[in-house]
Amino acid sequence: MTAVPETAPTIDPHPPVALPLDHPGASDPRYRARRDAIARLAHAARDGRMPSIDYLPDEHATWRAVASRLAEGHARHAAAAYRAARHDLGLAEDRIPDLAALSERLARAHGIRLAPVPGLIDSRSFLTRLGAGVLSCTTFIRHGSRPEYTPEPDVVHEVLGHAPLFADATFAPLSRAFGRAAAVATTEGMRRLERLYWFTLEFGLIEEPAGLRAYGAGLLSSFGELPHAFGEAVERRPFVLEEVLETPYDYTCMQPRLFVVPSFAFLERQVLRFLDAGAR
Ligand SMILES: [Fe+2]
Repeated sequence: MTAVPETAPTIDPHPPVALPLDHPGASDPRYRARRDAIARLAHAARDGRMPSIDYLPDEHATWRAVASRLAEGHARHAAAAYRAARHDLGLAEDRIPDLAALSERLARAHGIRLAPVPGLIDSRSFLTRLGAGVLSCTTFIRHGSRPEYTPEPDVVHEVLGHAPLFADATFAPLSRAFGRAAAVATTEGMRRLERLYWFTLEFGLIEEPAGLRAYGAGLLSSFGELPHAFGEAVERRPFVLEEVLETPYDYTCMQPRLFVVPSFAFLERQVLRFLDAGAR
């Protein structure tokens, strides 16, 4: 019989969150400790249930700083479905919502729930889970010194960017289509699907009767990039599936080229076309 000596080194299964040196919170030990604590909550949620998190006053203040700056951009540029769904969800400007309650509300009414993740996950997992009605959701907030910027998706991006549209009946089938495509895509197909996802659910524009509007979460959660998307520096092109699939993107800068869909139903048909073509 063998036994593990009491002095055997233990391996921490959840090491501290690694922040690159140029991250706004990299030299703030309090922020780093908080990121570690929130990541541990996500790791601990083994059943995938969104925990209720007691956010700190300065975290609510950061949310407030971003949400108030986004309000004007949303009024001018957000898709009608986004604005209606956000209103129905009752997302406040003054504090980070209770994510467990928000998840329950989304699940009950719209068949999609939020599941906590400590950070970015790979795109196939993210999209496959989305197709199964699970929106993987980071729960930390960006560093308060740079409310206009986050190098990674934070709770502002997930909740103010993504969540509302999943409460819209015309948008919801898209997530299932993406999920089915991700489940069967080849390696090359996954790279193309990532582009399709990027130029739609993250940075998509839609032509509405009232004019051009944004529905992508990357735009709707950035008060800098949202007005930029409608300016002269950006080339806005009609959505053509093969062109989108072949267009690379750079996530480190503002997007110089965006694609416009005429409706969410049209977009769903394009994802299904990709799927029908073997998701290659
Ligand atoms: Fe996102």
